Amino acid sequence: MIIKNIDCLVTCKGSHKKIKDEIKDAGIIENGYVVIKDDVIIEVGQGNDYKKYINDETTIIDGTGKTVTPGLVDPHTHLVYGGSRENELPLKLNKMGYIDILNAGGGILSTVKNTRKASLDELVEESKKRLDIMLNYGTTTVESKSGYGLDLETELKMLEVNKKLNEIHPIDVVSTFMVLHALPIEYKDNREGFLKIAKEMLPHITKENLAEFVDCFCEDGVFSVDECREFLEEGKKYGLIPKVHGDEVEPMGGAELAGEVKAISAEHLIAASDEGIKALAKNNVVAVLLPSTAFYLMVGSFARARDMIENGVAVALATDCNPGTSPTESMQAVMTFAAFGMRMFPEEIINAMTINSAAAINREKEIGSIEPNKKADIVMFNSKNLNYLIYHFGINAVHKVIKNGKIVVEN
Ligand code: NIG
Ligand code: FE
Repeated sequence: MIIKNIDCLVTCKGSHKKIKDEIKDAGIIENGYVVIKDDVIIEVGQGNDYKKYINDETTIIDGTGKTVTPGLVDPHTHLVYGGSRENELPLKLNKMGYIDILNAGGGILSTVKNTRKASLDELVEESKKRLDIMLNYGTTTVESKSGYGLDLETELKMLEVNKKLNEIHPIDVVSTFMVLHALPIEYKDNREGFLKIAKEMLPHITKENLAEFVDCFCEDGVFSVDECREFLEEGKKYGLIPKVHGDEVEPMGGAELAGEVKAISAEHLIAASDEGIKALAKNNVVAVLLPSTAFYLMVGSFARARDMIENGVAVALATDCNPGTSPTESMQAVMTFAAFGMRMFPEEIINAMTINSAAAINREKEIGSIEPNKKADIVMFNSKNLNYLIYHFGINAVHKVIKNGKIVVEN
């Protein structure tokens, strides 16, 4: 397959996470082409040099008027869940806080009830619909966290759903075990007991190879830094790579903890401190920012992407797709909030949702850029240049999605 005459080919090349000046350069080629053989990119260039590859079986796609990017990588989602939470909308509009809704038995805990009730097949069916939307909006790889079970049976069920989705859907699904998401009602007066059973779940998860990463919600009123540290260190013993949901609402030291335990990524970070930002840079932790969540929480502020970039932190972007704080599948919506909420520039945004988000899930050698030997995961947008893609907002700009070298979306 050849994509030729591409007005704006955004390669994001260099199979490593981008910091400082590198994140400002998206490796753009004007009048570019991409040559794909089977499911792999074999050549990237400019002008007409692709012609030598044409034979009777070649599919040729015209890129005139298009912006072509690596398949978008969404490195932080809570894709698998039962029910929905639109009943919380009026509470939010009446200024009830996120943690207050949770402590009143709503929020995450109400989704836990619905997820425990749902069968594996029901969860597959519901989550598959969300994956279909993601693909249609340009996402080709997604991370998916457990954490709406909070008991072994349901946590295993959620991770089995991830596995099944990965098998049946074109999108690649990468699994994270996140049982420290909330204290379940049955352990309301027994934190110690819950922390103990959470640790005991680890061998059950790893025995079946059901997760690569381990995550925890480090937040005032949820789990403390010490509780998270202990759990993540235990997870490491079982070969899981740590991630931290940190400093989402209050500056709790979540970013510092991520540095300390050598997490691959720290996520949210709306309230991260200066020290926290320095800890991320020093320890090579990817900052996964979730501006659609900041917008939806109505806290009036966003993560300090500019300060992070200036301080040498590798910034990535994700949807946080979940039923409470970010009910969206669209990385294009995240582009809008990253630009207009955090003043990230178009080249930074596209690096942050391709190569840097691949690095947040340990996949930067296989995906996240358009260059030889990378997997042929590619999005064509109806946009004559990269600025236009971010500037024209609120619509689905996807023209085609190519996954593993095959056209899977044609709009
Ligand atoms: O990333 N912060 C914790 N977890 C999710 C929200 C989950 C929910 O509200 O259901 C988040 O925002
Ligand atoms: Fe989250």
